[in-house]
Amino acid sequence: MERRVAVIGAGTMGSGIAHVAALHGYQVYLLDEQPGVVTRARQRIAQRLQRDVEKGRLTAAESEQVMDRLVEAEWNQLADADLVIEAVLEVMNVKKAVFESLDRTVKPEAILATNTSSLSITELAAVTQRPQKVVGLHFFNPAPVMKLVEIVRGEETSEETVSAVKAFAESLQKEAVIVQKDTPGFIVNRVLMPLFIEAMRIYEEGIASKEDIDKAIQLGLNHPMGPLALADLTGLDVDLHVMDYLFQEFHDDRFAAPQVLRRLVRAGKLGRKTGKGFYEYSES
Ligand code: CAA
Repeated sequence: MERRVAVIGAGTMGSGIAHVAALHGYQVYLLDEQPGVVTRARQRIAQRLQRDVEKGRLTAAESEQVMDRLVEAEWNQLADADLVIEAVLEVMNVKKAVFESLDRTVKPEAILATNTSSLSITELAAVTQRPQKVVGLHFFNPAPVMKLVEIVRGEETSEETVSAVKAFAESLQKEAVIVQKDTPGFIVNRVLMPLFIEAMRIYEEGIASKEDIDKAIQLGLNHPMGPLALADLTGLDVDLHVMDYLFQEFHDDRFAAPQVLRRLVRAGKLGRKTGKGFYEYSES
């Protein structure tokens, strides 16, 4: 793998992925269609790096080099990227539009990866002329901290592509797992969404307070945070999209989104995006 990586979308996941890639020596092009988003992402990354400097994990010079490697780019600069990681909104049509444009812009030998947490890789690959070079590369939030990357094969993803992105993930000091079949939710979200749903139903049914539900899972199962707090962290709008997609694909009540989640999202209480979510909501 050459050293030029482009990340499309500078939200929580895109900026986290750009951060780790630049930290590990890649030249990173970061793009977002919304003005100012890349600038804010670079500021957040600079603050994180500053903390690393204060803690003695990086020198000030190294931190500057990381920031120099991480540049805001325009579409036409993507032509020479070796690997593109798409991290835009978790909506199939939005992602398809990005993949169509990428396929026209980026050199044919480059790999096009998606950070989707549940959508079909095969369906996305089908809008390109290079389905063998399209692959799922799913990072976890916060990307600089979480060790796992799910690598997801589409129907036509080549062995060479899987090996290349596995080597890339390992070069970021991540652990990769290979999801052999392109199925909705892959491994983690297929397990995580029913956990979220059950915790939300327990809350809806008035069985315990949100604090006690989270405390029970944190201390009873040794999870670093409870499921309601984690649902806020991942973004309630994203969680709802994922549940609705899994429900539509599997036709199974395991994935039926609770009403409380829909009400929060409709009220604009999205967790990650607003700083509000389960922890600023009262069922009055
Ligand atoms: N970016 C970079 N570093 C971050 C960070 C971020 N956004 N958030 C926290 N960190 C770092 C902190 O700097 C800190 O590092 P140092 O102490 O070495 O400086 C370290 O992580 C721990 O952070 P804190 O001390 O602030 O807090 P904590 O110990 O409570 O850890 C946490 C916070 C890492 C988020 C931890 O609670 C955790 O692991 N939670 C579970 C996260 C999880 O399950 N993520 C997966 C979500 S599912 C998903 O992403 C898939 C999907 O598709 C929905």
